[in-house]
Amino acid sequence: MVVAATPPSDRRSATSLFSRLRTAKGQSDPFPIYTELRSKGAVIPAPWGGSLVTSFDICDQVLRSRDWLEPDKRWREQQGPRTRWNAPSSREMSSTLPALNPPDHTQARRAAGTFGRAAMRRIGRSVSRATDQLLASLSEQLDTGEADFVALVSEELPVSAIGDWLALPTADRPRLRELTHDQVFTQELLPSASQLARSDAATAELRAYFTDLVRYRRSRPGEDPVSRWIQTWDAIEPDRDKADEAVYLLALFVLLAALETTSSLLSTMALLLVEHPERWDLIADRPDLVPAFVEETLRHDPPTHVISRISAKDCVLGGVEIRRDEMVHLMVGAAHRDPARHTDPERFDPRREPAHLAFSGGIHYCLGAPLARLEAQILLHKLVRRFPRLTLTRRPSWAPRVAFRRLMNLDVALA
Ligand code: HEM
Repeated sequence: MVVAATPPSDRRSATSLFSRLRTAKGQSDPFPIYTELRSKGAVIPAPWGGSLVTSFDICDQVLRSRDWLEPDKRWREQQGPRTRWNAPSSREMSSTLPALNPPDHTQARRAAGTFGRAAMRRIGRSVSRATDQLLASLSEQLDTGEADFVALVSEELPVSAIGDWLALPTADRPRLRELTHDQVFTQELLPSASQLARSDAATAELRAYFTDLVRYRRSRPGEDPVSRWIQTWDAIEPDRDKADEAVYLLALFVLLAALETTSSLLSTMALLLVEHPERWDLIADRPDLVPAFVEETLRHDPPTHVISRISAKDCVLGGVEIRRDEMVHLMVGAAHRDPARHTDPERFDPRREPAHLAFSGGIHYCLGAPLARLEAQILLHKLVRRFPRLTLTRRPSWAPRVAFRRLMNLDVALA
């Protein structure tokens, strides 16, 4: 087997590619940069240590293998007290589902349950109602000129869906959404000190909110998931405080996981639609293509462009030597355009065979994928039925992130 050493020039050129990725231009179109990154190899050294993976098949293999772990509490502590991994927000995240490894993960994931068919039908009705209301306000605004689709629709629908599901008071939702935007920084690829400070403050406020919520639901149980999680954890965990902590962590992470990601999917989908009128006409004529359009959006520009893992042992990945506890960043946004996996990968084509890692893979496969798909499909159906066509009035801008995509605005007008 050929094992590659890492020439310093490779690290230097990857550094320059990442600097470009973090500019406004790089964010609006990171894909040419990903092509350059891929041309350097399927697995290449990350400028800050560890490796970057751009091959679809290798990303898929890592996600499904037991030899790759989440950066858990033990690993974060090892990185040292003054690193980003030990900021208060990161320590809090280290107890949530996507930072647990088996056997802790197995138990927590089972306790979280899944979206059953009856729950999906109920949520479907509430998402449908919310979508009608949001499109009515979009329509009203469009009658007076242009409207920002992000502010009016894609930021609103996910918080309404998850808020209804968790039975959170409507008045609390705008604040929860703001806190989520700040909290996400701790999950970014390379957060700055000030971003981490914002994330720490948001995490503290979210802890206070959700621990109160759990206390309240324990005293007045209802038909909602938080009340059900309390029952489930009481049957597993004899210590009440520990059971409440587990429910708090689940409720917190579900909110964090559900908001920005789904908003990003809805915004990107709308952008793809309004950029090319023939796509709008295609979906209006062929509503049976709605699910495929959503899946192709998830492939073409997924909400999460990077997923990270730690090696459980010394190994060789894609010809590159990796030591135990070293981190690999799976560049999912790049892997989705890997020509070895998809023919003509840059082309948006809802008729292609769907294959993407937008919801991860293996044991951490996204718990909320059915809900995210439901929201996107309902919105797409209703959007093309309600409006003859919308057009873009100016190029949108993206938040300066690398891992979590966020469209800041999507200004549209009636065509
Ligand atoms: C388009 C929208 C969404 C995307 C792209 C997305 C993406 C992801 C990804 C990539 C992971 C795995 C991270 C890893 O492997 O380390 C994940 C996990 C998770 N997601 Fe989502 N997500 C979305 C929506 C949602 C929603 C709506 C919910 C809640 C209802 C949710 C709940 C979760 C949970 C609880 C996990 C942790 C699963 C585990 O570690 O076992 N997600 N999601």
